[in-house]
Amino acid sequence: MALRPIRLFGDPVLRTKAELVTTFDKELRVLVKDLTETMQEAPGAGLAAPQIGVSLRVFTYDVDDVVGHLINPVLHFDSDEEQDGEEGCLSIPGLAWECRRKMHVVAHGQNEYGDPITIEGSELLARCIQHETDHLDGVLFVDRLDAETKRLAFEEIRDADWQHPPVIKASPHPLFGQAL
Ligand code: NI
Repeated sequence: MALRPIRLFGDPVLRTKAELVTTFDKELRVLVKDLTETMQEAPGAGLAAPQIGVSLRVFTYDVDDVVGHLINPVLHFDSDEEQDGEEGCLSIPGLAWECRRKMHVVAHGQNEYGDPITIEGSELLARCIQHETDHLDGVLFVDRLDAETKRLAFEEIRDADWQHPPVIKASPHPLFGQAL
């Protein structure tokens, strides 16, 4: 079992457009396994490869007891119906805001062996697929909040504990020429 550290808001990898996967080898399958395990341990409903520092177009999901992954996703929206609901992100821990998403999505892509697959999702699965695909484009869900919520969100992120790890204060005493 290989858990990988989850990158937090502010890490440049979360703002980088991830690369298409072109090689479907053992290394990719290890990545899918590590992503799945790291997501489930967190726990979270989804995790995208950039969130563990790998800039490839891969994400995993765990919604309504269905665990899966999708590689090189391309999303289609056949309906304009929308949903409002709270959304969070493992890279922005402990915080959640109302985010509007499409209600239904059809996602085409590949599995870890390179076979073409399609996932159709509604409600939470649709939200998750949109959120994770955004991660692959360097987009975070806070970018999609309405203006007022976004302002509040960036304030809360700025004040979050995990943005401010404890600082070890330097001793105020003079060193008297001690070797360091
Ligand atoms: Ni996220």
